[in-house]
Amino acid sequence: MKNTVTSFQQQKNAGDKITMLTCYDYSMAKLMDQAEINMLLVGDSLGQVMLGYENTLPVTIDDMIHHTRAVARGASKAFVLADLPFMSYQISVQDAVLNAGRLIKEGRAHGVKLEGGTKVCPQIKAIVEASIPVCGHIGLTPQSVNEFGGFKVQGKTEAAARQLIADAKAVEAAGAFMIVLEGVPAKLAEIVTKEINIPTIGIGAGPGCDGQVLVYQDMLAIFSDFTPKFVKQFAQVGEIMQQAFRDYITEVKEGSFPAKEHTYTVSDEVIDKLY
Ligand code: KIV
Ligand code: NA
Repeated sequence: MKNTVTSFQQQKNAGDKITMLTCYDYSMAKLMDQAEINMLLVGDSLGQVMLGYENTLPVTIDDMIHHTRAVARGASKAFVLADLPFMSYQISVQDAVLNAGRLIKEGRAHGVKLEGGTKVCPQIKAIVEASIPVCGHIGLTPQSVNEFGGFKVQGKTEAAARQLIADAKAVEAAGAFMIVLEGVPAKLAEIVTKEINIPTIGIGAGPGCDGQVLVYQDMLAIFSDFTPKFVKQFAQVGEIMQQAFRDYITEVKEGSFPAKEHTYTVSDEVIDKLY
């Protein structure tokens, strides 16, 4: 079954959890798609995990399009959601629609995600009016790292909790089909999930959301410079990869790779004629 905005709404209504992982390239998209993930998020987290930046702020719309195209080629059933990067939608509603359109037309995404609550509702509304599905993203919104003074859990005070609920409702009213809740207390994420009709996807937001998302390098322990509390390492793939790299180096140096079965042949007759 193909994943669509309507199938996600049905999943929420049926209590069937929605699964999402970040994805930035074709091979990984194929693996995840074949594992029957519901959604592939081409996150601007690619700034850190793919490009080696300190945060998501330097990521450009062209970076996003480049990776989204690759993911879209590998996805057959999964819904491809692409992030609008920093400064691609904040300046004006026109910019927001234009750049969302580029992620769809050039990147071949099925929908776009942008960060913020009531402040970005004019953008959400305009993008939705252009028939582009929009996913909201509230709580710990990494593009606001400098405003927050670091990556900190949001919604811890009564005022902040009320603001988060108000933001979720505003994003829903603006026409979003889904909201990512990042870095918020589990109880608050559960309340937000009950208060709105569209699905919520949590990351560091507890089990009460309608679905979950993780950065794949985090859940595979490939990117382990820093592992936040909310990450579960489902497999130590980083270690397995590094051991394979070591084995390759050893076998090349000792001459056991390539072996006969990895080698092409030519008839002796041809070789003899060369001398
Ligand atoms: O960029 C990203 O990976 C994200 C998820 C953490 C939700 O926005
Ligand atoms: Na993101």
